[in-house]
Amino acid sequence: MEKIALITGASGGLGQAVVERLGREGWSLVLAGRSSRRLTETHSQDHLQIEVDCSTRSGAQHLLEETISRLGIPTALLHCAGNIRLGAMHRMKEEDFLDCLNANLVSAFHTLAAFVAALREAQRPGAAVLVSSAAARIGTPNHEAVAAAKAGVEGLVRAAAATYAPNGIRINAVAPGIMTTPATNSLLASPAMRDMAAKQYPLPGIGSPEELADLMAWLLSDAATRVTGQVWSLDGGFAAIRPLVK
Ligand SMILES: NC(=O)c1ccc[n+]([C@@H]2O[C@H](COP(=O)([O-])OP(=O)(O)OC[C@H]3O[C@@H](n4cnc5c(N)ncnc54)[C@H](OP(=O)(O)O)[C@@H]3O)[C@@H](O)[C@H]2O)c1
Repeated sequence: MEKIALITGASGGLGQAVVERLGREGWSLVLAGRSSRRLTETHSQDHLQIEVDCSTRSGAQHLLEETISRLGIPTALLHCAGNIRLGAMHRMKEEDFLDCLNANLVSAFHTLAAFVAALREAQRPGAAVLVSSAAARIGTPNHEAVAAAKAGVEGLVRAAAATYAPNGIRINAVAPGIMTTPATNSLLASPAMRDMAAKQYPLPGIGSPEELADLMAWLLSDAATRVTGQVWSLDGGFAAIRPLVK
């Protein structure tokens, strides 16, 4: 049976790494983004590309309908759409907070809902991987909006994993620390800024979207058929451990 994977945020840094990783494994891919121009600039004419805003219920439903009618039932969802909206909450504009919730949490809810509905209708098993953040796991200054949104994603993953386990649908998330992608261009703009960011981590360094894509691909694979409801950190120990102070 053809392996079909749906990738949201496909024109972003993580989305591109996931497209390359799954493409090498022989998946048929559906790439979703809000701008067909950005999708084409990033991926030429490769793969099925669908312009859609998956942060609305109708957009997410449209994405699944288009995918099914043009390619077939997707059995994997990699929800890479999202943003990192930083700033102390007392200074954050309401529109920026709502944009953060929409990009990260509302989009995850609607896209996952449409995905599991399609699998249930087709009586097929499947797997979804969502993206959280180290900032949802440990208090980090000026991350209030994104931490709240990603903590919502983590709760969504556990509840949905429980609901759909009887249908053979596995739902997990990954929680990266900072990675080199367009979303962090301004945070990692100079060698000094990269050095400072890298030192925040018990295992010092800046993550790459490719290493996160490897973990996401593993969570989809046959090696992970009993893994569900989990959030896998890939953050150099940032959220879990403290190095010994010397
Ligand atoms: N980079 C990091 O350091 C880091 C750390 C922790 C977590 N993350 C998470 O990793 C995921 C991927 O981020 P990235 O680093 O690859 O960032 P990116 O390069 O900016 O890509 C994010 C993608 O999300 C899409 N998007 C943004 N807002 C959206 C909205 N309201 N509705 C639907 N799609 C939207 C954008 O696609 P279009 O505008 O083309 O639709 C964009 O391609 C995100 O969930 C992010 O929060 C990243």
